[in-house]
Amino acid sequence: MNFNSQTFISSRKSKTFNNPERFIEGWYWVIPSRNLRVGEVKPMTLLGRELVIYRGKDRRVVTCDAYCPHMGAHLAEGKVEGNELRCLFHRWKFDAEGICIDIPCLDEPLPIKLKTWPTAEKYGMIWVWTGEFPQQPLPFFPELEHKDCDVSFGPRLVMNCHPHVVAINGIDAQHFGTVHKMLSEIIFEKQELNHNAITFSNTTYSGEDSFLIKLIRPFSKSPVTCSICYWYGTIGMVTISVDFLRIHVMYAMRLLEGGKTEAQTWAIIKKRKGILGWLYNRIVLKLTEIVGSHFIQDDIKIFQTIRYELKTPLKADQSIMQFINHLERQKPLIWGTWNFVRSHHGEIKENHEKWRESMSND
Ligand code: FES
Ligand SMILES: [Fe+2]
Repeated sequence: MNFNSQTFISSRKSKTFNNPERFIEGWYWVIPSRNLRVGEVKPMTLLGRELVIYRGKDRRVVTCDAYCPHMGAHLAEGKVEGNELRCLFHRWKFDAEGICIDIPCLDEPLPIKLKTWPTAEKYGMIWVWTGEFPQQPLPFFPELEHKDCDVSFGPRLVMNCHPHVVAINGIDAQHFGTVHKMLSEIIFEKQELNHNAITFSNTTYSGEDSFLIKLIRPFSKSPVTCSICYWYGTIGMVTISVDFLRIHVMYAMRLLEGGKTEAQTWAIIKKRKGILGWLYNRIVLKLTEIVGSHFIQDDIKIFQTIRYELKTPLKADQSIMQFINHLERQKPLIWGTWNFVRSHHGEIKENHEKWRESMSND
């Protein structure tokens, strides 16, 4: 029996990490902005909750609960009128705040409100905040703030494991050698940006043997650095830098029924002027896509069959434990209802227990 690993298991059971019924309150991706035109309304299931999204005449996207508060007709069957949504059934109309503003058979509408959710757009994507008021800005790459960007979307993937398991792949130091065939040792340094965001940056990696570096090497000799910032444990924002180039990749995930993952990846780059700038961006985005899918292909076999349980952590797994520790301190919601997870004292259950980050078997 390995004493350390036994202590590790019994001393600590994660409440939110890899839990198919929980997720962290936060911003979650919905659909790419280009897939919702002015006047369009679409049904959407996000983290088990049925929603409707529409884009009004003012181009603003509105997200609301899917069923009409009158008699339950699905509002995606309805019609966008200006900046408002009209139910198809008895034609009640709701404004962008969800307030009922017209009931055709009454002179005055009733004081009824359809539930709406904070909605915003960034990096070519529509995002919804899963609580009353956003507690954080949308996930961002600091150097791209207030800049126009070009984006390129990769395929949408469904994976047979929890989003947290997919997320930690980006900081699973051992697997870069065993799965991606990189020979150099990778050590990450963590920095918590806020309650919901944590960055891991590599400090030792040169990775000369990797596919990515081989691709970049003809153009630059300087060292390559890599950082990944996680928001809500389900959005990974990757920045890869060489002297002349910075590549940004977002991989955003959400929890499907039964603990599966729906993931969207996309590459983001600052807009450049002129036809040459456009061409440069297209090439970089394409290369990023090639590298991204190369990496995912190596991992995907594991994601289809894994039954995740970190029974025997090593020092090399330290970043994963730091990730879990950060995640467990965030506000958990229940998949499907989006209600807070409350303890029997009626308090919001936030886990203040610390993962023993130093505990490992080597
Ligand atoms: S069900 Fe929507 S107006 Fe009656
Ligand atoms: Fe990987």
